[in-house]
Amino acid sequence: MPISPAASANGVILENEFFSRNFDREPFAFEHNLAGHPLFDPEHLLRLARQMSADPRDIYYDAGDVRIDQRWDQTPVCDLPIDELLQRIETAGAWVVLRRAEKHPDFAALLDACMDEIQALSGRDMRASIKLRNAIVFINSPNRISTYHIDRECNCLLQIRGTKKVSVFDRDDRDVLPDAEVERFWAVDNNSAVYKPHLENRARVFELTPGRGVHVPVNAPHWVQNGPEVSVSLSINFHYHDALLADVYRANYWLRRLGLRPAPPRRSPLRDAVKSALYRSARAVHTTARRLVASR
Ligand SMILES: [Fe+2]
Repeated sequence: MPISPAASANGVILENEFFSRNFDREPFAFEHNLAGHPLFDPEHLLRLARQMSADPRDIYYDAGDVRIDQRWDQTPVCDLPIDELLQRIETAGAWVVLRRAEKHPDFAALLDACMDEIQALSGRDMRASIKLRNAIVFINSPNRISTYHIDRECNCLLQIRGTKKVSVFDRDDRDVLPDAEVERFWAVDNNSAVYKPHLENRARVFELTPGRGVHVPVNAPHWVQNGPEVSVSLSINFHYHDALLADVYRANYWLRRLGLRPAPPRRSPLRDAVKSALYRSARAVHTTARRLVASR
């Protein structure tokens, strides 16, 4: 059921025709009013980072030079405590991800408000289809690159401080993102997307300044170049229960490994339904067999 657009009036995200037209299909820019918000003051972010570091699953950081095409498992490890890294953020070449900012009640309220507004602006009731949602805070050193990748989450990235250029590609461009890379992503490798420098001119480049944001749909390839100052961004992130026919891609991954050339999803709803059901059955059999073996 559509939600009233009035719900977004005077909120965080400003009204924008692209939400209803392109949301979760194509990237687009929007504006918001979080620039200068006290929740993102350095002292507050330092306290939040300390809170997140109590559980290693809630925080990620690294530091050093990275290339656009670098895999996440090749990025330089940083063993400084987060306090120390944030004190050196101007020169550290760091990428800091506070993955669960919503554990702080003020960020939880902000996440709720943003999600309500995104639903209102997009005209979609996503409450039943969303499995998981997070408020993620990115803190980046000047000129730091965030490497090329695709995500399983749908995302609205709000720039709070500093600047960055976000290059986003069309997820349906099979030169940029071949089916085999999407299949690997959903089946076995979060970092399967391979950057193709000769296709860089197909990216749409969004220049983010405080108060501007970009929407990145599920699986749209992207990479980020930070500007010359420390950057702080908020990502409103959510996973769907059935993201982009993920089980069809997983089935296709295994069919391709058997030497077949499976048809991509969305050409035949019946074929997609059969593949998805077969994949889920095979996974259930596999899980049961493993439990039986483990219990012997
Ligand atoms: Fe991303």
